[in-house]
Amino acid sequence: MEKNAVSRTNIIGGGEVGQAVSIHMKKDTVHRANSLFWDTKGNDLLGTTALPHYGAFISEEKCQLLGDITGKKVLEIGCGTGHSLQYVGERKASELWGVDLSQEQIKKAEEHLTANGLSAKLVCSPMEEECGIPQNYFDIVYSVYAIGWTTDLEATFCRIASYLKKDGKFIFSWSHPIHKCVAVENDTLLFKKSYFDESWYSVTLGDSSLTLSDRKLSTYINVLAKAGFIMEELIEESDEDMLALREDDFAKKAKMLPATFVIKARKQ
Ligand SMILES: C[S@@+](CC[C@H](N)C(=O)[O-])C[C@H]1O[C@@H](n2cnc3c(N)ncnc32)[C@H](O)[C@@H]1O
Repeated sequence: MEKNAVSRTNIIGGGEVGQAVSIHMKKDTVHRANSLFWDTKGNDLLGTTALPHYGAFISEEKCQLLGDITGKKVLEIGCGTGHSLQYVGERKASELWGVDLSQEQIKKAEEHLTANGLSAKLVCSPMEEECGIPQNYFDIVYSVYAIGWTTDLEATFCRIASYLKKDGKFIFSWSHPIHKCVAVENDTLLFKKSYFDESWYSVTLGDSSLTLSDRKLSTYINVLAKAGFIMEELIEESDEDMLALREDDFAKKAKMLPATFVIKARKQ
């Protein structure tokens, strides 16, 4: 444990994680820890979240944020295993691109897309860094449960703005920050952590560890504005039909507060 590290409660996915430790964020250390996590146990421990789902209880089929993708150049940030790229590829995007920190996720995406008769330009890089993706080129940039992994939100949103054509759309989902603060105990919702706490922490899951920070919703919105985006839509509501399919603690919580948020923004 780092000197001055403080052990605290954190909630990842549906459940409380015991060994969250506050850390001082060093970009290279975070990238090393998180690429190792996604190269090895990431999918086993956190699964895959892919379109048409933006998260457990929000779907593209209901929300229709992407619109008609036919002929559009599309880039996914944190493309993971390539399942979302498959979704947009099957809806006739003209070009598929993806960027991901993990070499193993890029390999899985490549294999998955090839097995489904699709191809994409896949780049292994942190999303927050220059990596040769063309500028003023894309009609749509989207991301499903990956943006929150960035070590530098402002640099990431500025890069995404630079990749988009004027009026291009940026759509992304992430865990709602209030969801990360509240746990279910004996059918009661309990606050476990301050909503305002954006400090970095490290969590051990099995024999792997990951490093994150939980940013406030206002942080995402203010940084989007700073990077030159206009907000078009913010979705927080869980879909009633999807909620009705589950009865676990995660679903109980999602009936009372948002589990996921999705933002659709436009480059000015
Ligand atoms: C929850 S997964 C997203 C899964 C993806 N939506 C899918 O359908 O497979 C998060 C992804 O973000 C990637 N990631 C983590 N930190 C990153 C960073 N700084 N830059 C780019 N990708 C990153 C991980 O390697 C992982 O593939």
